[in-house]
Amino acid sequence: MAENIVWHEHKITRAERAANKNQKPCLLWFTGLSGSGKSTIANALDVALHQRGYHTFLLDGDNVRHGLCKDLGFSDEDRVENIRRIGEVSKLFTDAGLIVLSAFISPFTSDRRMVRNLFPAGEFIEVFMDTPLETCEARDPKGLYEKARQGEIKHFTGIDSPYEAPEHPEVRLDTSSMTVDECVAALIAFMASRGLIA
Ligand code: PPS
Repeated sequence: MAENIVWHEHKITRAERAANKNQKPCLLWFTGLSGSGKSTIANALDVALHQRGYHTFLLDGDNVRHGLCKDLGFSDEDRVENIRRIGEVSKLFTDAGLIVLSAFISPFTSDRRMVRNLFPAGEFIEVFMDTPLETCEARDPKGLYEKARQGEIKHFTGIDSPYEAPEHPEVRLDTSSMTVDECVAALIAFMASRGLIA
């Protein structure tokens, strides 16, 4: 950070900014392999919350890499910077009072911890998409695993780039054994149990 930069406290709190007073601003952080169901479940939860009148925003890996992070690739260093930026953007959206759903592979434990530490206790919910690699690879919705196996894509997560699985996620979902509706129901129940939604 540059020198001579002073933090300004805002007069309106994040709770006061919440468009829907029945919701608590928070970040649901979906992490998991490509093809594990991050985007599918985050989108389905987004719809379910929206239909119930909650104010949400969804940040998604592929989309963010079209704009804010289009200068970044998939080296370890670029992934670290990718997650740092997304963490800060997610924080800004929760400061605006929203429930934020962020879906990124985020393969490194230290980066996920860095994002967690941006938030007050209880407002960062790690959702581990614990779908086995074999299932993700069999799905291969974008054909990327096949390209990675053939060496056409380098540093592909789960193939020749590491994924450090969360040890203590708030929520663990396996889309090889749970339906989309079951995953959404589990997340809604978790959010309600923590008082994040009424
Ligand atoms: S990361 O690791 O968190 O910075 O990745 P993320 O920003 O979530 O981007 C993952 C999506 O990028 C596509 N893609 C790759 N993923 C992993 N490794 C390599 N080398 C790679 N190259 C391209 C892929 O479509 C990922 O999307 P999802 O939705 O996870 O399948």
